Amino acid sequence: MIIWYFLFYFSLNIIIFASPGDNHYLYRACLNHCKQINCSTSLGLRDFQDKQTFFEYIFQWSCQDECSYECMWKTVDNMQSNGQPVVQFHGKWPFTRFLGIQEPASTLFSILNLLSNYIFGYKVLRHHLKYGVYPLYSMWMIFCFIAMNAWIWSTIFHTRDKPLTEIFDYIGAISLIFSQFACCIIRVSYRTKYIRLAKFVTLFLLMFFIYHAYYLLFIHMDYGYNMTINVIVGVLNVICWLLWSIINFISGKIYVWRCAVSVVLAMIFAALELVDFAPIAWIIDAHSLWHFCTIFLPILWYRFIIDDSRYLLRYIY
Ligand SMILES: *[C@@H]1O[C@H](CO)[C@@H](O)[C@H](O)[C@H]1NC(C)=O
Ligand SMILES: [Zn+2]
Repeated sequence: MIIWYFLFYFSLNIIIFASPGDNHYLYRACLNHCKQINCSTSLGLRDFQDKQTFFEYIFQWSCQDECSYECMWKTVDNMQSNGQPVVQFHGKWPFTRFLGIQEPASTLFSILNLLSNYIFGYKVLRHHLKYGVYPLYSMWMIFCFIAMNAWIWSTIFHTRDKPLTEIFDYIGAISLIFSQFACCIIRVSYRTKYIRLAKFVTLFLLMFFIYHAYYLLFIHMDYGYNMTINVIVGVLNVICWLLWSIINFISGKIYVWRCAVSVVLAMIFAALELVDFAPIAWIIDAHSLWHFCTIFLPILWYRFIIDDSRYLLRYIY
């Protein structure tokens, strides 16, 4: 389990830091030429504006971005005709743009994750549970909003990969991991004498999250540090829910199987990113497959929340 996470960690490092494409002589020459000829002369700029589509305009593809995109494909064509393997550019595989969207598959699957959290999360919680009646109702609602927020930023990031959208995507992802872990700590100590300690730990996690987001945004976008925090809290989260599920399953609460299965599946899906490959048809890569797989997790996860809330209600009265 931990090994998976560490492999995941190192694979992401490779994806982010090593980008042989942007050092390719053809790419560099093409980019220099394009920036100087197309983007620095009024004739070239007018040519660029004439060719730009409406969606490319609203998603802010600048002349320089357009140069990178064109030169990337020229380099890829050259590599393929020479029988060389295709490499990454600026930490990303080449993707075919669609309606100005940089990574259409990951964008579509992010939207479906958002919808899944809305339909199987928000709607289902609202329909089956009630505020003020079911224990921990507010906590699960807040968690659901945090999840939907994370998928909104993921959608934005995969639509247009910019330094700021990237940071918000990372902050969204980490907010989801932190909050699920905090939920575990609160759930485990609910109605025990440790609840005060659990609230204290949650407060600490919240402060740490705020500091982390502040650090990424205003001090330094440190990929390695961010991934380390992701892995540590992610592993603690999985261990927490899994141990709790196993103990409760053994003592007869059969419904917790959905909890265990969904956290284990999330971890296995995360390991998918290990199998990094050039995008199929320049559309589907490992990262988009990971986003595809997680679409189905809310079905299991929120069903577990409903069962658990019903259990707590019966247990209290
Ligand atoms: C740059 O100019 C060339 C020649 O006119 C054109 O083929 C190319 O598409 C232009 N690139 C951009 C990004 O405008
Ligand atoms: Zn993503």
